[in-house]
Formats: sequence, C-alpha cells, structure tokens
Amino acid sequence: MSYPQHLSFVQLKRTINLGGLNLPSPFFLSPLAGYTNLPFRRLIREIGGVGLCTTDLVNARSLIENNKKALKLIETHATDQPLAVQIFGGKPEEMRRAAHMLQERGVASVDINMGCPVPKVCGVGAGSALLRDCEGAAALVAEVVRGLSIPLTCKIRLGWDEGNITAPDLAKRLRDAGAAAIFVHGRTREQGFSGRVNLAGIRAVVEAVPELPVIGNGDVVDCESAQRMARVTGCAGISIGRGAFYNPWIFRQLNSCFFDGVESPPEPDFEERVRIMRRHLELMTECFGERDGCIRFRKMGPWYVKKLGPANAFNRRITQLQSREEFEEIIVFYRAWRRQFLEEDGVTLKPRYRHDEEPEEVAVPASASRTHIPVPVGPVEWW
Ligand SMILES: Cc1cc2nc3c(=O)[nH]c(=O)nc-3n(C[C@H](O)[C@H](O)[C@H](O)COP(=O)(O)O)c2cc1C
Repeated sequence: MSYPQHLSFVQLKRTINLGGLNLPSPFFLSPLAGYTNLPFRRLIREIGGVGLCTTDLVNARSLIENNKKALKLIETHATDQPLAVQIFGGKPEEMRRAAHMLQERGVASVDINMGCPVPKVCGVGAGSALLRDCEGAAALVAEVVRGLSIPLTCKIRLGWDEGNITAPDLAKRLRDAGAAAIFVHGRTREQGFSGRVNLAGIRAVVEAVPELPVIGNGDVVDCESAQRMARVTGCAGISIGRGAFYNPWIFRQLNSCFFDGVESPPEPDFEERVRIMRRHLELMTECFGERDGCIRFRKMGPWYVKKLGPANAFNRRITQLQSREEFEEIIVFYRAWRRQFLEEDGVTLKPRYRHDEEPEEVAVPASASRTHIPVPVGPVEWW
C-alpha cells in the first residue's frame, strides 16, 4: 500500500554520511546498557534495516587498562559492522587513548556519552555533567579527535533541566571542536524518561548546526512516531533504543515505510517471532555460554510473545530458563497451550484475545512519572 499523500510524508535520505563514514540506512540502534550486547546487535543486523549499531557505554579507563568486562562490552564479530563504541570518562587524555585503541581495533566510529545521569559517571565530570560544562565538553572532544581518523560523535540530552537547555549551544561547540555528528535524546537529565520526547528541543539542535548530521532520539516505536520525529525536527537520522528491544523488526519496518512506500508494514507472525527468539537465544549462548546466556535471556523471552495473546504460562517457564534444550520444550508446550486461544484455523487469535498488549510495565524510577514506553529495571534506569 502506498503512503497517503495527505499525511505529508517526510522523507529522510536513504543513506547518511557521518564524517566520512557512509551508512546504508539513516536508522540507528541507540546504546542501551545491558541490552545492546553483541548477540542483540547481530540479531538486529540479521533482521536488517539498521545503519549503525552502538555498544553499551564503556568506561574509557577500563578499556585502556584492558579490563576483562570492558573488553567483553566491545566484543564484536565479522557480521557486527559497522560498529560504534560509546565511551565515557572525565579525563580527556584517557578518553583519547581509548578512542585510538578502538580505532586500531577496527571500530567504525567512537561516540562520547554526554547524557548518562548516574552519579558515578557525573561525579567524575562525565556523562550528563558535560551538559552544563559546554567548554569542558568541547575541550574533551578537541583532545579526543586529535590524530583520530575515524569519526567522533557525541550523544547528548537537551540539557540538565528545563531551566538549563544547553543542547543548541553545546552542539555548536562540539561541532567546532571536531564532532562529526550529534545524537540528541529529546529530554533533559532531570526528566529521566518521564513525559514525552521534546521534538521542538531536538529541532533547535538541528537548526543550531545545519552542517552536521543530527540524529533524533526518543520515543520512536513505529512508522508514525518516526515520521513525527523526521517531520517536526528535520533530523538527518533517527536513533531507536527501547523501541528496538521490544520490536527488533523496527528498522526493517521503517525502511519499508520510508523507502518502499508501505504504510503499515506487516507485524511478524507467531513463526517469525519464535524463529527470531530462538536465534536470539542461540547468539546469547554463543557469546555468554549456555548457562549465562540462558539466564540473561530470561528477561528477553517475554518481549517476543507480548503480541501473541495470553502468555502467562510461557512467561512463567521462560523466566526460569536453564538450557537451549529446555527452550525447545517450552516452545512445544506453549504451542499446545496457546491453541485454546485460537480460532479453528489454528492461526488467528479469537476476538477476545486480540488486543495489542504493550510490553509489561517494569519499574520506573520513583522520582519519575510513568512513561508510555516501559523502562527496564536496573542501575541505568535513569538514562
Ligand atoms: C536500559 C537503558 C540503558 C541505556 N543505556 C544507555 C547507554 O549506555 N548510553 C547512552 O548514551 N544512553 C543509554 N540509554 C538511553 C538510550 O540510548 C536512549 O537515549 C533513550 O532510551 C531514549 O530513546 P528511546 O525512547 O528510543 O528508548 C539507555 C536507556 C535505557 C532504557
């Protein structure tokens, strides 16, 4: 189906260039600490439609000290290309050394985190502390780009709080210091994840640095929200975080909407969901070993079945998963148990089970009001 003219569809360019790095799609996977690990990035790439994936944030000092956990965070694979690594740190010299080390390892670009609100990060002058130290942030970028041939990008929020919206000014300074692109999450540090993304705030950044690609980020979960982001902000690309872990098909769907004129790309069916879920688990166990891979997968299994009708019996079992063999047993069980909710064709849900369920609400930081996209519980819940 082609897109209706009256919706004034806004087109992004099909490819995007970040400081010399040519990317095949203007859609990006946002860093999500604890989620954007190698298996998830490989899965997203296998499904297709993504331009660039970024790792979880990594401590620059840990990287240059060859800390095992930091090295695991940047673990990659021939199919995990092009890859951006996000680093944070308060010491420009350490950040520069980390960026050079990543360049030597073949990373496509380095991203500096300027949005992380956790006290441990802000306390060393890194993360969102840089939002209120534009000069320090620019000096950091100037030091990191020295002698670096791969692009350096920065991921910022709109500012520290409503009274301190620094993003447009910060973006100009980062550009002058040598940043190749700016990713902007349209919320302040104080906002956490509450409220809705401020698209006008992102637009102000786009207007401040017209010569740089600005990548809009926040609350994009489907074609409609991606269109809104493109139309209101004028951004060059769109970065997606939570929307990708609840729907890893999103990048492919966005390509269909933006470039193939498909108004509403089809939702993956039962078989496709099971296929991708199985592949995800396989990649997890390849990367983390069978036991650890299964344990880590426990929180991901429920995402895949949310739109498949009742799933409580499946969720009870998948959240105790011990092995890949058990996964196959759970699928056999789930297939049989689910029949009671299906029409005679064995495919369609009976009408009363057909509502589109949102992913389960998980704890939101106490001081933030509820957001419409769930935020996973964890130490980084205040991004
Ligand atoms: C669990 C979680 C972990 C995150 N980790 C990071 C991170 O490591 N680095 C970063 O820059 N942003 C991080 N973020 C912020 C996201 O990259 C993104 O900016 C934010 O979630 C808004 O985009 P979304 O609405 O598409 O999720 C994290 C967000 C969540 C929910």
